[in-house]
Amino acid sequence: MRFKTLTEFIVEKQGEYPHATGGLTRLLNDIGIAAKFVNREVNRAGLGDVMGYVGEVNVQGEEQKKLDVYANNQFIAALKYGGECCAIGSEENEEIITFDSGVSMHGKYVVAMDPLDGSSNIESNVSIGTLFSIYLRRTVRGKATLEDFLQPGRNMVAAGYVLYGSSTVLVYSTGNGVNGFTLDPSVGLFILSHPDMKYPDGGNIYSINEASYNNFPEGVKKYINYCQEDDPATKRPYSTRYIGSMVADFHRNLVRGGIFMYPGTSKSLFGKLRLLYECNPVAFLAEQAGGKASDGFSRILDIQPTSLHQRAPLFVGPTSMVEKAEEFMKEYAPEFKPKH
Ligand code: AHG
Ligand code: MN
Ligand code: MN
Repeated sequence: MRFKTLTEFIVEKQGEYPHATGGLTRLLNDIGIAAKFVNREVNRAGLGDVMGYVGEVNVQGEEQKKLDVYANNQFIAALKYGGECCAIGSEENEEIITFDSGVSMHGKYVVAMDPLDGSSNIESNVSIGTLFSIYLRRTVRGKATLEDFLQPGRNMVAAGYVLYGSSTVLVYSTGNGVNGFTLDPSVGLFILSHPDMKYPDGGNIYSINEASYNNFPEGVKKYINYCQEDDPATKRPYSTRYIGSMVADFHRNLVRGGIFMYPGTSKSLFGKLRLLYECNPVAFLAEQAGGKASDGFSRILDIQPTSLHQRAPLFVGPTSMVEKAEEFMKEYAPEFKPKH
């Protein structure tokens, strides 16, 4: 049997893009190539020289780890030399990175990315990921600007993630369904393994870091109680699964049916996750898979961003589960409605 590769699939789908000129095809391919390099390093992470910190602190004040830096550099290089992307907004860089020389200065796309998501899990052989979202630039000529990135998520032309897990999977959407590809390491190719991904009916998993329970909005506490109640007809009590790498938690919930939540708390009203390169890509994928993504009150993809690294509360998963959580938020925690 002959399997379909990522490259073949992307080329085949090119005709379906609204602005099909081959540029987005090449850009997605570039991301696939960078992902293979990162995958190689992730798989060697136990071998010493790539482990540990590089001694820098990134824009969120977190220590950057060597693999964060490696992944960031790989994706920047792939996009810079690929020629289709004129600027990158990365979790690891305070300012946007613009390409103002070489092939990429004329690229019409900008990419927001979290090059390594879940980096606290590196040392413990637990799944980590990469998140990306792609927009058409807004400005017409010259260097890209921050304005090119401050677009609501609904403008996205494509988004996806790479999950470096028990196998490595690349999942993406160009707004026409969600497809997943598994890396066959023996031939170094991503093979179509999850065509047209949709949330299954009747999800029964909830994913949240319950250690923050005391600081959660009343609506989240009530929703967690709802998840824990006995009601066999609705498969409750649900199961808790929380890996601490959003890409891995999101992927499992997409395949198995579950809601992922990172709400605001009394200590941090907007939660932890970054809107542009964490919430927006999974929100886009969730909607494409028949699900929903909300800040507890409104659609994530409708938020008008005001800064590159801003945070947003996130409730993402099957529509019925997210709507139930929203019901509790609206009834019991209206004061947590974020003013983005
Ligand atoms: P990153 O490694 O890019 O900083 O992101 C980590 C994020 C996300 O992946 C995960 O869901 C969340 O942080 C976990 O946070 P808690 O430890 O607060 O649960
Ligand atoms: Mn992250
Ligand atoms: Mn990260």
